[in-house]
Amino acid sequence: MAFSKFSLFLSLLLSSILFLGHPVLSDDEEDKLYQGINEYRKTLKLTTLTKNDNAECLADELADQFKNQPCTNATGANTVPGTEPQFPNYPNLLAKCHLNVSNTRDGAVMPACVPGLDPSLVLPNFTKSLYSQNLNDTKYTGIGIGSDNDWIVVVLTTSTAEGSYARATSNGADMISKTGLMYCSMLLLALGNIFML
Ligand SMILES: *[C@@H]1O[C@H](CO)[C@@H](O)[C@H](O)[C@H]1NC(C)=O
Ligand SMILES: *[C@@H]1O[C@H](CO)[C@@H](O)[C@H](O)[C@H]1NC(C)=O
Repeated sequence: MAFSKFSLFLSLLLSSILFLGHPVLSDDEEDKLYQGINEYRKTLKLTTLTKNDNAECLADELADQFKNQPCTNATGANTVPGTEPQFPNYPNLLAKCHLNVSNTRDGAVMPACVPGLDPSLVLPNFTKSLYSQNLNDTKYTGIGIGSDNDWIVVVLTTSTAEGSYARATSNGADMISKTGLMYCSMLLLALGNIFML
């Protein structure tokens, strides 16, 4: 009986891990920027941007590419909607995040470099620069933020297919690990029942 309770507890634990998804380590500067951008949007009576995991994945990958570049290279934003950003390896980075050009085309990619990611400079870097054109835009509904060293990258997504940042294909690895966890918790439940008999 005790064992069965324990296995039930374990399977509940596993299920909650399964449903909560991977825990995201919250990054202070990213969180501050996220809140700051949404406060800015609020003052303009625009919708709150919701977090998009795939956009965040791409933002992280881009920040990782930029991290060793000096701040003087802070260019490369795709300010022209509908065009592909001109970053080295861009298609590879999209692929890493299970994205492709057709579901990211309408999004916006905005890298910025701020020494030490000073929060009092990071937000104005987006709200008081040409990037504000994107932040002012009603078509954006989602956001992903990534940072590395002095670099912080904001990726905006839309609610249309062309900017949804939805996964290009069903992600095999993810499916396998979820199925594995599900199987594992079912096995534990079954074991608990056997021991109860
Ligand atoms: C961001 O801020 C830094 C330092 O304040 C500045 O040098 C840089 O040009 C800004 N970048 C963008 C994209 O606005
Ligand atoms: C975005 O909106 C703000 C507030 O209305 C305005 O000051 C800013 O110039 C706008 N940005 C662009 C690029 O139009």
